[in-house]
Amino acid sequence: MSAVTSPGGTPQHIAIVMDGNGRWATRRFLPRLAGHRQGMESLRRCIRACLDRGVAVLTVFAFSSENWNRPADEVSGLMELLVTALAKEMPQLQADQVQVHFVGERAGLSDKVRTGLDQAEAATAGNRRLVLNVCFNYGGRWDVAQAAARLAAQGQPITELSLHQAMALAHVPDPDLIIRTGGELRLSNFLLWQAAYAELYFSERLWPDFDEAELDHAISEYARRERRYGQTSEQLGMAADQKAA
Ligand code: IPE
Ligand code: IPE
Ligand code: MG
Repeated sequence: MSAVTSPGGTPQHIAIVMDGNGRWATRRFLPRLAGHRQGMESLRRCIRACLDRGVAVLTVFAFSSENWNRPADEVSGLMELLVTALAKEMPQLQADQVQVHFVGERAGLSDKVRTGLDQAEAATAGNRRLVLNVCFNYGGRWDVAQAAARLAAQGQPITELSLHQAMALAHVPDPDLIIRTGGELRLSNFLLWQAAYAELYFSERLWPDFDEAELDHAISEYARRERRYGQTSEQLGMAADQKAA
């Protein structure tokens, strides 16, 4: 993994289902796309907050494999928004040393979008302060299936480790904290494999209203959780005592 590690108590890898843009817009009698534009502002603010807090990896869900089922004008608007926002934000991303990855299926995207993604990845590949994974045309099931298909084609055995290494997020550790905004209590095909031991935080805030204070609330809630990975509380206590001795 090419990023720095995070300070104690801060999750090293935060992943976010950025949900609620449409409702944010509808409540203001605006077109849904206005909500997506405002969502982009919220993402910019969230990246800044993660940089300030020393988070090493931020993974965001921007467009799911299933979002193709939306009205055609919303889908094309989202594609356009991605390309324009990328071009606009590139100088700041470079200044902040953000390494950008697009995670998801490239087939099915237009040449223009694909070129935009490729260029952004190439231009930021040397950056080391924050890894930003943008899940775009992404689904957790797609990722498991493409990894298994790749291994099968190479005649490799399918094990937990080989699958993990063939998956689209192999360049980062699993998420410590998964946040979903917008009040829905589901994963919607996000990071199905990598979520195995993530702490989950559900926020009622719509994504455009998600701010630093709500991020801090999620982080402090995370810091209070005991991550047992199948062990007992007593075992964890003993291990901590041994470490301290
Ligand atoms: C999330 O916001 C962004 C995308 C899925 C692209 P939504 O557009 O799903 O917002 P709601 O859930 O309709 O409010
Ligand atoms: C999940 O949100 C996908 C993204 C945030 C990109 P959706 O709004 O598509 O999820 P569902 O349809 O409510 O499950
Ligand atoms: Mg939604």
